[in-house]
Amino acid sequence: MSTEVQETPLTTLPEWQALEAHATAMRARQLRDLFGADPTRGERLAVEAAGLYFDYSKQRVDDETLRLLLLLAQVRGVAERRDAMFRGEHINSTEDRAVLHVALRMPKGSTLVVDGTDVVAEVHEVLDRMTAFADQVRSGEWKGHGGKPIRNVVSIGIGGSDLGPVMAYEALKAFSRRDMVFRFVSNVDGTDFVEATRDLDAHETLFIICSKTFTTLETLTNAHAARRWCLEQLGQDAEKSGAIARHFAAVSTNEKGVREFGIDPERMFGFWDWVGGRYSMDSAIGLSTMLAIGPENFRAMLDGFHAMDEHFRSTPFERSLPALMGLIAIWNNNFLGASTVAVLPYAEYMKRFPAYLQQLTMESNGKHVTLAGAHVDFETGPIYWGEPGTNGQHSFYQLIHQGTRLVPCDFIGFNRTRNPLGDQHDLLMANLFAQTEALAFGKTLQQVLAEGTSEALAPHRVCEGNRPTTTILADVLDPRTLGTLVALYEHSVFVQGAIWQIDSYDQWGVELGKQLAKQTEKELASREEPTLAHDSSTNALIRRYRARREPRR
Ligand code: F6P
Repeated sequence: MSTEVQETPLTTLPEWQALEAHATAMRARQLRDLFGADPTRGERLAVEAAGLYFDYSKQRVDDETLRLLLLLAQVRGVAERRDAMFRGEHINSTEDRAVLHVALRMPKGSTLVVDGTDVVAEVHEVLDRMTAFADQVRSGEWKGHGGKPIRNVVSIGIGGSDLGPVMAYEALKAFSRRDMVFRFVSNVDGTDFVEATRDLDAHETLFIICSKTFTTLETLTNAHAARRWCLEQLGQDAEKSGAIARHFAAVSTNEKGVREFGIDPERMFGFWDWVGGRYSMDSAIGLSTMLAIGPENFRAMLDGFHAMDEHFRSTPFERSLPALMGLIAIWNNNFLGASTVAVLPYAEYMKRFPAYLQQLTMESNGKHVTLAGAHVDFETGPIYWGEPGTNGQHSFYQLIHQGTRLVPCDFIGFNRTRNPLGDQHDLLMANLFAQTEALAFGKTLQQVLAEGTSEALAPHRVCEGNRPTTTILADVLDPRTLGTLVALYEHSVFVQGAIWQIDSYDQWGVELGKQLAKQTEKELASREEPTLAHDSSTNALIRRYRARREPRR
């Protein structure tokens, strides 16, 4: 199987059609019966790798489903495409780029030569510079204007230049410097910047401007706001005296843009066009993470990523966590008709993980044409969403238990907590296990009636079950585990994209809105009443806003 773009439409493949026929039979089968028929199912349909235990026995699959899915992966050349990615081939064909986030976590001393350059050596050069800077800041050796050490770090970025750092900071808060303040500004809504800085002293504040392109409107607008805010506190001559340089660092692939903004290239940490924004939290974009948790912990996180990469690269798909996760996502999405995946971490520290996964999964696989440019006749990326348990249980789980839609869920839990408080961790985990059991097996009418419920009420209390879930257990949430978890989802996204043969690494869809916003911005700024040529709805909305907003000064 070559990695060339295949022209055979996916849905005409015999392997696809076999899955469709099989799905017709499987739709009628109950998890109750699947477990009843095989007492070992709970252990048989579970795999462990890189410290993660992955139980997919409560998915609506049987051995035949897995056989057919693996066959589909084979005919779609998923393993070959994986190898091409690891070799640094330009699998992001619409942007003609390699997709090499896996190089960001290769150990020092290993080599990967791409387009004539050893990218691993470059990665470690940047990591070493980040380490030196992080050590200086964390030790207090790096002084702000006026001689005070840095106590506050404000990371400014958006999308992939924000969601990963925020998520990692929250997830690894237990490892972070508690005597330092970490804030994240992403929204062009001025409220984000104002609220993030309102109680900070500029003399003790470091801004990290994170933008792969260094052209993103939101980030540059907030970066300029940060510079004005600094000058107001440090004095207007701070720029001339070079003092402002003590308070700004940049992470970008665009050195020219960083220079033009006025950030000292010495304080610029680079990455490369082969790192997609949503795959960049382990690049220099993670500088705020390194400042928070320290270089050693950051490297432990990279080791976790790498462990999952190696597992994915070298394990046959039938025992590969990312392959199984990706294939099960295909099964639920394309054959059982589920259009979403709920991600439910039973860990408060993981509260931003679903938001992080939304960009990773949906910007990657929300595509309507194949690599060859043909419109797909099947569903691509499902909608990822979620909230930490147990909060979600008291909010949206009702629909998952008794609604009419099929919502496959990923439950994520940890065997040990960093915050033992009485028996609260047992309570938390009891809820996780109970939910997956209730979703799978439900409660039948007979069971409800046997409990003495009236005939009238009984139908309301029935839970049909057969709701598919995967449970991912790790021992403890630490930097390494976080790395393995993120890499698991990254590679699952890859597997899905490879089956659909779409480009999981471009994001052309976000461009149109950006272009239109530029035009609209001019119309909002215009002192004269602008001539509007949008549709009648947009025209009316713009006129109404112009008439009612704060008066212009
Ligand atoms: O608008 C989408 C996007 O291009 C994302 O893919 C990216 O993560 C984000 O904007 C931020 O881009 P940048 O890092 O270049 O500022």
